[in-house]
Amino acid sequence: MRDTILSVVIIVNVLCGVLVYFMPQMGTYILLTIASAVTLLAIYDAFIQKKHSLMRAFPIVARLRWVFEEEREKIQQYFIEDDLNGRPINREKRSIVYQRAKEQIETLPFGTQHDVYAKGYEFVKHSIFPKDHHQIKGERVVIGSDKCSQKYNASIINISAMSFGSLSKNAIMALNQGAKMGNFAHNTGEGGISPYHLQGGDLIFQIGTGYFGAGKSVNGKRVFDAEIFKENALRSEVKMIEIKFSQGAKPGHGGILPAKKNTEEIAEIRAVEPYTRVDSPPAHDAFSNFDEMIAFIQQVRELSEGKPVGIKFCVGDNDEIETMIKTFAEANNYPDFIAVDGGEGGTGSAPLEFSNYIGTPLLEGLSFVNKMLKKYGLKEQVKIIASGKAIDAFDVVKYLALGADAIGMARSFMLSLGCIQARECNLDTCPVGVATQEKDLVKALVVEYKNVRVKNYHNKTISAVKEVVAAMGKESITEVEPKHIFRRNKAGDITSLDNIYYAEDTVLAS
Ligand SMILES: Cc1cc2nc3c(=O)[nH]c(=O)nc-3n(C[C@H](O)[C@H](O)[C@H](O)COP(=O)(O)O)c2cc1C
Ligand code: SF4
Repeated sequence: MRDTILSVVIIVNVLCGVLVYFMPQMGTYILLTIASAVTLLAIYDAFIQKKHSLMRAFPIVARLRWVFEEEREKIQQYFIEDDLNGRPINREKRSIVYQRAKEQIETLPFGTQHDVYAKGYEFVKHSIFPKDHHQIKGERVVIGSDKCSQKYNASIINISAMSFGSLSKNAIMALNQGAKMGNFAHNTGEGGISPYHLQGGDLIFQIGTGYFGAGKSVNGKRVFDAEIFKENALRSEVKMIEIKFSQGAKPGHGGILPAKKNTEEIAEIRAVEPYTRVDSPPAHDAFSNFDEMIAFIQQVRELSEGKPVGIKFCVGDNDEIETMIKTFAEANNYPDFIAVDGGEGGTGSAPLEFSNYIGTPLLEGLSFVNKMLKKYGLKEQVKIIASGKAIDAFDVVKYLALGADAIGMARSFMLSLGCIQARECNLDTCPVGVATQEKDLVKALVVEYKNVRVKNYHNKTISAVKEVVAAMGKESITEVEPKHIFRRNKAGDITSLDNIYYAEDTVLAS
């Protein structure tokens, strides 16, 4: 094959030379130049470069493969995927976010594209007596146990943790301003509080294992520092504190900030070396057993002068989670909320094995935590915030039905900012300025337009939740229970989520 390609390239080159000889014009000179360049490249591919065997065997032609590989995602998204099979978020779900964010028409023509007889199809049952959705209650929830003195009246939909560093400054500003306009909360992510977070929107200040904004480096180790934490926690914008144990996309790993995205500004905020990869440790330095964990939660609560303190994790070992909740109950001291992240959760950057094979998916994790809180009598005190691909109102209703009190959304808010799911968040090349620190790309995201879209998406999704709940004949979003959501297990067999996740023999039941 190599000789055939080389022969063709050389023949074309010679023909171009002949053409120039008989027709010495600009056009033929250009042709000859291109043909000569291709010939030289073919010779380089076949004989000089030694790294790529494919290029040595198929000079020039093999390069096309690299081009298609590079553009595979886009070709897939633009020409191949249909409305329901795009991953991780299908086109139908992406479109509803764009439509709600832009306040465009959000109705569907002609009927559902879902196969309602397929295994896994889910739906809610409506009532003969639907309610007026304008009257539906329950769009806000008070978070704060009897241990906290500054309870927070939260929206049931809030922006899940995403740091400045992972996202651009314009993205952070638009999210925070949108949160302010829509009166909901914006989680800082584990990267600390930047000036871009301080646009007036309510903040959930996250402390990760790197203690950015809440600690310092001592002998190369990141440790919690009460004074640094307190300074940030006492800001009036900070309404709640979230101690991150793990996230669904990389449980047990710790955060990763790629070197390219660790600019001087970000490095200064995090107190680390710029343009180096920053790996947060997998575990907290501040505690290593449940008693120490409870003491740390209490210390954080006191330092923040009684603001609600939560913990975030993706469910791993069920026995461990049960022991933790049991210990909370026995100590009569507990977090004010638990943020349960599903294994399907998103990230800016994670190792493949961690994203694909570690961590319990949200439906199982959420129902397990809910069950444990009930079992140990803590359900009234400890609220649950669930995150994991909640995008449309059905997702929200389903997670609330399964026991969540509020929902955290990360990627859907990225979509509302204009994310096109190019999946380059770890490369610093995000084409729409959401997940990059590249100055020219960041400028592409105009804060004054996108903040409104963030607010619109939130508000319209809340309205859609109310419409679904109204159709179910309920008066409040809080009335939705797992017995109201159904799933087709196999042809002809429909079961409620109550039977699937709350039956005695559920696989994850303890
Ligand atoms: C770009 C990006 C950055 C994230 N950064 C953090 C983080 O700093 N801390 C954290 O706990 N989770 C982080 N997450 C996880 C989200 O907060 C959320 O738990 C997860 O993506 C599930 O929500 P989703 O399915 O709505 O995206 C990040 C997710 C994304 C997409
Ligand atoms: S457009 Fe691509 S790179 Fe940018 S945030 Fe979305 S998925 Fe990440």
